[in-house]
Amino acid sequence: MTGLKISELIENNEDWIKEKLKTDKNYFTKLSKGQNPRYLMISCSDSRVPLNSMLKAEPGEIFIHRNIANQINMTDINFLSVLEYSIEHLFIKHIIVVGHYSCGGIAAAVDGVDQGLVENWITPVNDIYNKHNEELSKIKDTQKRMDRLSEINVLEQAKNLIKIPIYQRALKRKKYPMLHAWIFDIYTGKIIQQDLCFNEFIQNGLLPEDYVSYFEDNLL
Ligand code: CO
Repeated sequence: MTGLKISELIENNEDWIKEKLKTDKNYFTKLSKGQNPRYLMISCSDSRVPLNSMLKAEPGEIFIHRNIANQINMTDINFLSVLEYSIEHLFIKHIIVVGHYSCGGIAAAVDGVDQGLVENWITPVNDIYNKHNEELSKIKDTQKRMDRLSEINVLEQAKNLIKIPIYQRALKRKKYPMLHAWIFDIYTGKIIQQDLCFNEFIQNGLLPEDYVSYFEDNLL
């Protein structure tokens, strides 16, 4: 889609600097003082999911971890470091897992196409596909079936996150960050919020009773 050359990227960067300085001549001095993001987002690496620009969020507003098919894996030291740092040092208030329709990683997990290491990485998506096979096999249209799997995947990844001890400890201590699951509808550009069904987790003790109301009351 885009075919920007390196020289064009550098020129764009110069334009961007000018735009920022036009609105505030101390923009970069302020930016260099530190970050205070309210959000951690875990998203797919896909180049068509431009988190900051699609949410009109400025630098400093979103702490981001990305990987193919937005996986949350308890043994991924990269992700766990991001999670711990964002909770313990940045005091983020919300964690949002962002999946998207037309996700190549999701399709590859089902097709079993030989894509080298990616195949290993997305094995959990194949497990999710098998687990939800009864629902998914009823969807005859392949793209619609994959897109439903994107939705299920984002919910399953969020559920993985609930169980991670770093998150459990944070909840016991300060009751946040709150968890969300989103789908970026690549056909329309819209964010579709997915229902995480917190009750199930409240009932089995993984989330506190007042998990949702605490956020509504404190407007975090
Ligand atoms: Co993707």
